Amino acid sequence: MFINFRRIHKCQCVQLLTTGLVLCMVMVCWEELDHHVVSHMRSYTYRYLVNSYDFLNSSFALTSKSQHGKDGSNGADVGVVNYPYLINHPGKCGGGAGGDDVLLLLFVKSSPENFERRQAIRDTWGNESFAWSELGANVRVVFALGVHPDVGRRSGVQRALQREDRSYRDLIQQDFLDTFHNLTSKLILQFHWGHEHCRQARFLMSADDDIFVHMPNLVSYLRQLLSSQSGAKDLWVGHVHRGAPPIRRKESKYHVPDDLYPWPSYPDYTAGAGYVVSGDVAAKIYHATLVLNSSMYIDDVFMGICAKAMGVSPQGHVYFSGEGKAPYHPCIYDHMITSHGHATDVRLLWQEATDPTVYRRSRGFMGNLYCTAVRVMLLCRPYYQNTYSCMAAFT
Ligand SMILES: *[C@@H]1O[C@H](CO)[C@@H](O)[C@H](O)[C@H]1NC(C)=O
Ligand SMILES: *[C@@H]1O[C@H](CO)[C@@H](O)[C@H](O)[C@H]1NC(C)=O
Ligand SMILES: *[C@@H]1O[C@H](CO)[C@@H](O)[C@H](O)[C@H]1NC(C)=O
Ligand SMILES: *[C@@H]1O[C@H](CO)[C@@H](O)[C@H](O)[C@H]1NC(C)=O
Repeated sequence: MFINFRRIHKCQCVQLLTTGLVLCMVMVCWEELDHHVVSHMRSYTYRYLVNSYDFLNSSFALTSKSQHGKDGSNGADVGVVNYPYLINHPGKCGGGAGGDDVLLLLFVKSSPENFERRQAIRDTWGNESFAWSELGANVRVVFALGVHPDVGRRSGVQRALQREDRSYRDLIQQDFLDTFHNLTSKLILQFHWGHEHCRQARFLMSADDDIFVHMPNLVSYLRQLLSSQSGAKDLWVGHVHRGAPPIRRKESKYHVPDDLYPWPSYPDYTAGAGYVVSGDVAAKIYHATLVLNSSMYIDDVFMGICAKAMGVSPQGHVYFSGEGKAPYHPCIYDHMITSHGHATDVRLLWQEATDPTVYRRSRGFMGNLYCTAVRVMLLCRPYYQNTYSCMAAFT
């Protein structure tokens, strides 16, 4: 009897202890759990069950027109701020080889000090002459910049920029600090410049300066769209983030406080690393930036807000990478469009990926079979979530 009682006692003790331990664990890991599981669940529920973003129009509408650009002390808090241009080429889209009929206006989001990255891009995928002479495509490439945030280095860097621009005439710079929290200003620069100086472009692309763009594949994809029925309208294509929740952890780079965005889910948007919009969508985004509050500093998300307010939804393409780097293989090169994280190996990759033998290898029944097998091996591994999804192996 006595022993029995003690045993029950012990069992209860163990039970109590385990419960306590589990509770402690949950409490300790709550932040992580909240971030990784709960906020995503909330977000997906919102995205797929409620799926109404009607509030975006009203809550992001500019409150008073008189505020425009007046409050110069804090650019992030006012609505439409039109910073003056420091370096500009209004005529960049007209004239030149191919005349005014521009297939693609390509903005590269760069920073003042990234001279080398810009040079590598000009020598490789951003080479307009290559696009014209090898692909017959009229592509215009410009670099979007602000001013160097460090006052001490600013004038030196600015002089170097001016020199660089005299050689290449492809920089577009506005007078805002080139910082992470001003990326939305850079987005607005792109759509405003496009609207003012290159309205005729069939497509507009926005790209980071550390990505790789397979220009021949991109051009042939865009041509396909143009020749398909109505395919070149209402297009916003890239690597789509669906139902992404705002990050509430204070220590995150992408921390967004409740008063900036109180809802559990962002509208769908494409990764800012590289996406393409058709000319009509570019015009719609331009108009949205005139009436919406741009204090949302994550530029991709702000783009999503603008698009949602204008009734545009993004569509995914398996060969636009989000944050990841593509595997190096000819069977990937013959399909890839963008790949992220190429600050240093752009030249090498360009040489390899645009080699004419790349396409030869994947031709024919056997070539196709071989390449599909290789792509399955490269992309369909469990836990591999870097660039292209497993689906990309079968296209
Ligand atoms: C934009 O939104 C922010 C934060 O929600 C707010 O502080 C600011 O006053 C708004 N600006 C305008 C011009 O409506
Ligand atoms: C750009 O492409 C053209 C045509 O293919 C080529 O002649 C030229 O050398 C390239 N420019 C650079 C800087 O690589
Ligand atoms: C953005 O640029 C403006 C204009 O230079 C500046 O006043 C503001 O402080 C910058 N904002 C951030 C967050 O860097
Ligand atoms: C939201 O605002 C935009 C621009 O003002 C307008 O074109 C669009 O129809 C509005 N959408 C809704 C759902 O009210």
